[in-house]
Amino acid sequence: MEHKMLFEVHNEIHQRMPNENLYFSPGRINLIGEHLDYNGGTVFPGAINLGTYAVISEREDRMVRVYSHNFPDEGTVSIDLDHIGASEEYGWASYVAGAFKVVGERAHLTYGLDITIYGTLPNRSGLSSSASIELLMLYIISDVYGVPLDRMEMAALGRTIENDYLGLPSGIMDQFAIAFGESQSAIALDCRTMEYDMCRYQDTSCEFVVINTNKPRELISSEYKHRKTECEQALAELNVFNGRNETYLCDYDLETLEASKGGFSSSVLYRRAHHVIDENARTLSAISAFSKNALRTFGAYMFDSHDSLKKMYEVTGAELDRIVDTARTLDYVLGARMTGAGFGGSAIALIEKGHFEQFKTVMEREYEAAIGYKPSLYQVGLSTGPTIISKGDA
Ligand code: GLA
Repeated sequence: MEHKMLFEVHNEIHQRMPNENLYFSPGRINLIGEHLDYNGGTVFPGAINLGTYAVISEREDRMVRVYSHNFPDEGTVSIDLDHIGASEEYGWASYVAGAFKVVGERAHLTYGLDITIYGTLPNRSGLSSSASIELLMLYIISDVYGVPLDRMEMAALGRTIENDYLGLPSGIMDQFAIAFGESQSAIALDCRTMEYDMCRYQDTSCEFVVINTNKPRELISSEYKHRKTECEQALAELNVFNGRNETYLCDYDLETLEASKGGFSSSVLYRRAHHVIDENARTLSAISAFSKNALRTFGAYMFDSHDSLKKMYEVTGAELDRIVDTARTLDYVLGARMTGAGFGGSAIALIEKGHFEQFKTVMEREYEAAIGYKPSLYQVGLSTGPTIISKGDA
């Protein structure tokens, strides 16, 4: 859809022209450093130029009425600022309700809004469409009501929506990557200290491609919770065995892990810990390669990361493995791996420019032959965080 159309859709649905601001919030990919944010490790995500757009108009009462052009059948969802209920009441708009709830607890929001949303992130693709909407709404609320929220506060509030309102125990990576997104940059974030470095993507001869598995993703949240619990247990057992009291799995190194192998109650816990500790070291090396523009080296780390997520952390599955195995056979592909939580969702590949069509053809053919349906491929750029695009630029 043309972004300009969003103004007309708003007028038609809400019977009122929106103000002139077109708001945008990106999705994210994680280049490397998977399942490390809740283990005190370093992650390396970036915001992308697919995301969620919104236009708004102010109301005189205290209702928020929100419509998504992606879910026309759901109609307009109403949120009463004086009684924001449980997240289940609002369907897809629970992220919107959550944003009004967490900010409304800190500041008085004097009036309601009519909102129209449109997203270019494929649904359930593992590119953080939920965090994209959360940060979009936090940004809009901050702008409209003059509630000062810096990027760190927005990321933290986004996580509060996920953890406390929606009951999903995710880490800080997605919200941080979106809030801090900058054009042409990936973000090296130490999730223990919350210190970060912006790493500019200097090479113009390669590009990132997202390959969406299109796999229906029902089990993700329970599997995610399960992995998190396994990590907590592995940490507890490592601490007992070593007589230490560390806070995160990433406080251990591989040498200590190997020496502690006998202390685990199951080999599964050893493998989970191995992925986390190994991936953290790999991510630091990969960030260093990326910063030196050594993209072939970086790509090799991407493949290694996928292997570890497959064998040690067991969060990939036939669909993601098929994509990465196919990518490995192509010499114009520098690296590929799953991105995000896994169990479906999307993979990313770093490929030499000029090969996208060829890559798409091979990927669709090989994937469909093995899995039975086609994946979707998108060329993506590393992009800015939440922002206002003026109407003239829409
Ligand atoms: C999801 C979570 C993130 C992170 C990734 C795995 O995207 O929301 O916090 O844990 O999975 O790296």
